Amino acid sequence: MMAPLLLEGRVALVTGGARGIGLAIVQALHAQGASVVIADNGVSIGGDDADPDIARTAAAELGERAVAFTSDLCEPGAAEAAVALAAGRFGAIDIVVNNAAILRDAFIFKAQRDDWQRVLATNLHAPFALLAAASGSMRDQAKAGRAPGRIVNIVSSAGLVGNLGQAAYATAKAGLFGLTRVVAMDLARSGITCNAVAPFAATRVTASIQPANEAQAEYKTRASRIPPAYVARLVTFLSSGANTFSGQLLGVRGREVFLFSQPRTLHRVVGDTLARQDALALGGVLEAEFTDRLTDLATDLELFNTEPLL
Ligand SMILES: NC(=O)c1ccc[n+]([C@@H]2O[C@H](COP(=O)([O-])OP(=O)(O)OC[C@H]3O[C@@H](n4cnc5c(N)ncnc54)[C@H](O)[C@@H]3O)[C@@H](O)[C@H]2O)c1
Repeated sequence: MMAPLLLEGRVALVTGGARGIGLAIVQALHAQGASVVIADNGVSIGGDDADPDIARTAAAELGERAVAFTSDLCEPGAAEAAVALAAGRFGAIDIVVNNAAILRDAFIFKAQRDDWQRVLATNLHAPFALLAAASGSMRDQAKAGRAPGRIVNIVSSAGLVGNLGQAAYATAKAGLFGLTRVVAMDLARSGITCNAVAPFAATRVTASIQPANEAQAEYKTRASRIPPAYVARLVTFLSSGANTFSGQLLGVRGREVFLFSQPRTLHRVVGDTLARQDALALGGVLEAEFTDRLTDLATDLELFNTEPLL
């Protein structure tokens, strides 16, 4: 007997769903019975040269339960229009996956404001706009007795750990994790969950890494072997009614799934009153108490440079 489908009758909206990890997510949600809006304008890694045919082709290949939304998600009104398309075509909005992102890397001392703004607009402001646009309907649906919705934000180890030259990208992804926590809290009473996933998978982005040293070359070779379907499997679970986690930060790298810690106070010292202690004296206490507990400056590429399990 066939296992029942996990997402029968559910309606999903996946940004950046025409390619790479997003396409794998779209295919997995669709295979589990969901109807899917593929919101993707088909831009380059840096966010240029839009091509709407990529999302249209992906939707056509899936058939009836898929539709393309090809506007730039950074444009005013695009988020509302994407949600309206889901509701108009498929009657609801149950699952939102914020996966679209662009990269414009530069060392901080060479970074350009325009690049910063485009990356923040795509990777952080657009996910905010989509959640602001979708969450009202998701709450109303839950109040009306429909199974509560599921939100997954695709973040990056670069935003959690840091990486050279990725000021804008890492900042946006760190912000998206902050957004994940607040959205999880704001929607908890409706039973809607919101989680963040840091993926590792072979896509055109991994293919474009220009290794600056041997460790990075090794990382690239390893990452290039990881099919995005592993990310899609985790996102499918988190998008289903079987998932109860919310506000959590997970990672997925082939068969390995990670639960990340979240910033909490690690250690505390109580300084003297201002009248009695100067800055240097406080520094001495901190050095004695904190030095062994500091976080080193390893990049995410260094931390996750192990052999993938496939
Ligand atoms: N590949 C990895 O190993 C890896 C690692 C860490 C994080 N990620 C994250 O995973 C997600 C997917 O990455 P990927 O490697 O598949 O990237 P990708 O570049 O292959 O796909 C991203 C998609 O988003 C779309 N997009 C970009 N800007 C858009 C906009 N304004 N409106 C609509 N669509 C837009 C693009 O057209 C593209 O199809 C991203 O959030 C990325 O930051 C990937």
